[in-house]
Amino acid sequence: MHDFSKSTILRCALACVHFQISTAHVTRDQDYGIGFQFTPAYGSVAVSYENGSNIALGRVNGDKAWHDLMFKFCVDTRYMRYDGSDTTLEADRLVLVEMVDSLAQLAAAKLGRPVRAAAVSLPAHNRVHHYGEFAVAPILQHAFETAGMEYLPIITWNAAMGEPLIFAENAIVAGHGFGLCQPYTAGSECKNGTRAPYDVFYLIGYYANELEITRTSRQWSAYQSWWYGFPSEQHLGRDSKHDNPNEEHYWDAVRQRLIKSFPPSGHLSYNITKLIFYGDYAEDPRLRLEVEELLRAFGQKPLLVDDEINPVYAGALGVAEFAKRKPYFDIEAQHSHGLVDQTKPDP
Ligand SMILES: *[C@@H]1O[C@H](CO)[C@@H](O)[C@H](O)[C@H]1NC(C)=O
Ligand SMILES: *[C@@H]1O[C@H](CO)[C@@H](O)[C@H](O)[C@H]1NC(C)=O
Ligand SMILES: *[C@@H]1O[C@H](CO)[C@@H](O)[C@H](O)[C@H]1NC(C)=O
Repeated sequence: MHDFSKSTILRCALACVHFQISTAHVTRDQDYGIGFQFTPAYGSVAVSYENGSNIALGRVNGDKAWHDLMFKFCVDTRYMRYDGSDTTLEADRLVLVEMVDSLAQLAAAKLGRPVRAAAVSLPAHNRVHHYGEFAVAPILQHAFETAGMEYLPIITWNAAMGEPLIFAENAIVAGHGFGLCQPYTAGSECKNGTRAPYDVFYLIGYYANELEITRTSRQWSAYQSWWYGFPSEQHLGRDSKHDNPNEEHYWDAVRQRLIKSFPPSGHLSYNITKLIFYGDYAEDPRLRLEVEELLRAFGQKPLLVDDEINPVYAGALGVAEFAKRKPYFDIEAQHSHGLVDQTKPDP
């Protein structure tokens, strides 16, 4: 499944049609927000209350089909024109429906009431769309509908590289309480509130089946994006450690991948200010050592974020926080000064 050539991706990207998602009706009658985080390894769910408490509700492990789907979302062009009639995508849609349904049921059991609406984050940016095209949102929305739920978009199409989606970096940053206006009613531009300080994040997600590496642009807002790392043709999840009898081969590959998340010149326009590990193996000492050495080599001394947030649920907590922050469409939509960062494909 990893045979998508870059030229195919580019060709399809250029041939894409502009697609507008319907955002007419948004549920606003909940005094809390429900967030799902889709990771390469699992889905997780959390709730965010008006009183400021964000609480993890649970997780559902994904199988190989789930991991494959998360990967395909980033590289496969077929989701681009999805309208529900494409039967070749039915298996994929059902994988999504099952995850959405399982997370909703899990949350409902914990909350003691049904979950009617949720926002969701994806592991990585779709590399086949270009600005203004919705490559994944339609099938996501369709799956939510099948599961009897409303899909809550958090950002407008022109706020983050074309799709009205939030990704791992947005979810993790928000989950740790960074990059958000306070109080939460202030709106995404903080017109009636306090802006978060500017930060540059280096985010490392470590799962059994993937290593996610993201370096953000200089940003004050959790809604901003820059990605690097997943999906990759290499499988650098923790389970790949023993693919080769000599584990050092694995760590060499990890190091190469970390190095690639920096510009070839090694020069950053902004110093990295915060380092966050997340995912099932966020605590892995060897990974942390590799990251530490890499940052030292690039002259970076970010603050390691070491708070009370559970690294397995950080993303879900962040998405729930977004879902609570109504309205959903007051991002700097008309004038995107510095908000949009062009993403780049893997070299
Ligand atoms: C906020 O509200 C929720 C739900 O009622 C509750 O579980 C939680 O303990 C509250 N948090 C605080 C800090 O009061
Ligand atoms: C924000 O403040 C303005 C006045 O500065 C006020 O008109 C508006 O209602 C406030 N909005 C919210 C959501 O509080
Ligand atoms: C990054 O930090 C170093 C000190 O650690 C400083 O010398 C350098 O000017 C900073 N670079 C930028 C772009 O701020």
